[in-house]
Amino acid sequence: MLRNTRTRWGALTQLLHWLIAVLIGVQIALGLIGTALPLSMTKLVTLARHKSLGITILALALVRLTWRALNPSPELPGTLKPYERVLARVTHTALYVLMIALPLTGWIMSSARGFPVSWFNLFQLPNLVRRSATLYHAMVRVHVLLAIALGLILVLHIAAAIKHHFVLKDDTLRRMLPGAHAALTRKE
Ligand code: HEM
Ligand code: HEM
Repeated sequence: MLRNTRTRWGALTQLLHWLIAVLIGVQIALGLIGTALPLSMTKLVTLARHKSLGITILALALVRLTWRALNPSPELPGTLKPYERVLARVTHTALYVLMIALPLTGWIMSSARGFPVSWFNLFQLPNLVRRSATLYHAMVRVHVLLAIALGLILVLHIAAAIKHHFVLKDDTLRRMLPGAHAALTRKE
């Protein structure tokens, strides 16, 4: 089933969730490696890949949000305490905001530096702003802070998924995984 239902995530949401999760992992690694390397061809190639992949994540996040708006979303598990419901909503919203804000600050940073962003050398994206050293330095700082925030929120997000699956033993992780259909529909 491609579409979400009130009890589980559909195949397209699952595909986008796990694809973006893998790409975010690679993206953080490329960012850290690219920043740590001394100036060299490898550094430039690593950062160019980081930029192309970041734009890919931006596009996928927009597709995901559009698809989310066109579908019902499953209810949060009824067993959550009120503060846990708020925490779940806040972390999910923050993850969506970061999936958009990180690529945008990266794109603005590159434009302000005067290094246009290309997508895997296939085409070039327009510069979002004029050259500006002040804006460039500010955007580097914001980009790094947002990346740290993403890392911290992901620790919380993954810990919650583990807790639901292994401690609370509910369907939260299963309904984001393929093959869960039979198990869930039996309970519907
Ligand atoms: C979800 C998307 C993104 C994530 C998670 C991400 C994450 C990161 C991380 C972790 C770093 C290393 C920071 C450090 O150690 O100082 C970094 C650096 C960098 N990112 Fe991104 N990034 C994303 C998207 C982008 C995009 C779309 C661009 C450009 C189009 C970009 C351009 C850069 C650049 C140029 C640096 C090096 C900054 C410097 O000069 O120190 N990033 N990013
Ligand atoms: C090992 C890594 C991950 C695990 C185990 C995991 C697990 C899950 C699970 C089980 C859900 C469903 C929650 C529910 O049904 O209420 C979920 C939702 C979500 N995940 Fe992840 N996730 C991971 C990585 C990521 C990453 C890297 C991102 C994005 C940066 C992300 C963003 C989201 C968002 C935004 C939702 C909310 C979906 C919605 O309400 O539209 N996840 N995750």
